[in-house]
Amino acid sequence: MVEVGVQSGGSAMMWKSYFGPGLRYYGIDINPQAQQFQSDWATIFIGDQADPAFWDSLRGKLPKEVDFFLDDGGHTMEQQKVTFQKAFPLVKLNGVYACEDLSTSYSPDFGSETLKPGSGGPKGSFIELAKQMIDWMNCYFAGGDVLNKNMECSSEFKQGIMANNGFLETAYSLHFYSQILLIEKARVLAPVTVKGGGYSIRYGGPGSVWDGTLYKTPKKSVEQLPLH
Ligand SMILES: C[S@@+](CC[C@H](N)C(=O)[O-])C[C@H]1O[C@@H](n2cnc3c(N)ncnc32)[C@H](O)[C@@H]1O
Repeated sequence: MVEVGVQSGGSAMMWKSYFGPGLRYYGIDINPQAQQFQSDWATIFIGDQADPAFWDSLRGKLPKEVDFFLDDGGHTMEQQKVTFQKAFPLVKLNGVYACEDLSTSYSPDFGSETLKPGSGGPKGSFIELAKQMIDWMNCYFAGGDVLNKNMECSSEFKQGIMANNGFLETAYSLHFYSQILLIEKARVLAPVTVKGGGYSIRYGGPGSVWDGTLYKTPKKSVEQLPLH
């Protein structure tokens, strides 16, 4: 696993006890004193999680893929967003990306705005970004085509963090808890229109009649479809 925020090594020890002897822990902290927690199972890197170049410098030093990534660093909006942009691709399929202490999304001290009732939420916060993730997961329908005939996300989904870190292709589920977001990764396919296993009748209304079409279950399973 990778954890941003080593501090006094407390959580590193907790993860070691939770995951057991097989744990490979990679800790990141801006404070050089965190280096003292380096051990045979823990590797510590010193740097600023808000600096994209720092993440680039870790290429080849961190494993190519990790099971679990946890952002428990400085908790500012910039730090959380840059980290999500750069580190989400590190998590392997079936792995989990976690960002904690999301209460800072409501604090000006951490680069956000306080939530005012009816304001639609704090601008620029990680929580706001997390809410957008829900739209991204449904981007194929966001243009209003709920029957999804063209399998294309509309143009507003072609830019920003989620357009550049593999989110569309791999963000399988979002789990919101108080102050914590977990993103479970898996292979995510663009929706396909498949009709099978029944007759077609028109949807709703007194004029609903069978149009005479029988759909057979398709031979090709969704798993065999190519990645988009
Ligand atoms: C909440 S503490 C981590 C606590 C630790 N995970 C635990 O539970 O025992 C936050 C840590 O993030 C580090 N930190 C703060 N800003 C950072 C930054 N920009 N980049 C990397 N680490 C940072 C701090 O030095 C501090 O050690």
